[in-house]
Amino acid sequence: MSDITIIGTGNMARGIAARAIAGGRSVQLLAHEDKAKADALAAELGGDISTGVLGDRITGSIVIPAVYLDASKAILVRYGSALGGKVYVDITNPVDFSTFDGLAVPEGTSAAEELQKMTPADVVKAFNTTFAGPLAQGEVAGVQLDVLIAGDDEQAVQAVAELAADGGLKAIVVGPLRRARQLEQAGFLSILIQANEDLPEFQWNSALKLVPAA
Ligand SMILES: NC(=O)c1ccc[n+]([C@@H]2O[C@H](COP(=O)([O-])OP(=O)(O)OC[C@H]3O[C@@H](n4cnc5c(N)ncnc54)[C@H](OP(=O)(O)O)[C@@H]3O)[C@@H](O)[C@H]2O)c1
Repeated sequence: MSDITIIGTGNMARGIAARAIAGGRSVQLLAHEDKAKADALAAELGGDISTGVLGDRITGSIVIPAVYLDASKAILVRYGSALGGKVYVDITNPVDFSTFDGLAVPEGTSAAEELQKMTPADVVKAFNTTFAGPLAQGEVAGVQLDVLIAGDDEQAVQAVAELAADGGLKAIVVGPLRRARQLEQAGFLSILIQANEDLPEFQWNSALKLVPAA
């Protein structure tokens, strides 16, 4: 039994796994197809990580597919009712890469809400507004990272907030799952800023930060 199951071995898998390990959590890391990728990332990160491949039984109570939206949907179809009772964290930024001018989900919904329609798990939107590099580091320029979180199930939201906080991040619960619409737009805006060559001070190593009143 693990605390967290992360699916994928790419940039966000590395960043989120690093924070989970820093928080003392146990992690099940499932590679897409090649278990050697999960083994290599586990060796790099250290800590309590078990490895496997997509299709293995999910042992974590919190499941974080660190994959793009199409793969997220395929994972939900594949695991079906086995995800019942679990917390599913949607980290996707569903950017329409054909135009790079908007999201690939229609107005009036979000990737997170569309995924919720497909699964008995409690979907929570989180981590889409934090970039992978800063997550792996746990900070930017000595500043704590904010993790903006939205979800309908209070316990599920709390579980994700605790995961973030244990990993040294500031968890900010912004509201119900429909707030994922705003989080996905915020994530997209942040991506546009990183990709903007006229703003070389950002370039994927920056973070959105809400500065509270003193
Ligand atoms: N990168 C960021 O800073 C960032 C920030 C916020 C949110 N996000 C979101 O995080 C997600 C992952 O981004 P990333 O940058 O980590 O991508 P990435 O580095 O390209 O990693 C994607 C992972 O998905 C796996 N994968 C591909 N197809 C799959 C499938 N059908 N089933 C299961 N796994 C599959 C890949 O495995 P193989 O390579 O072995 O096929 C790889 O491990 C995306 O939704 C993105 O929008 C990213």
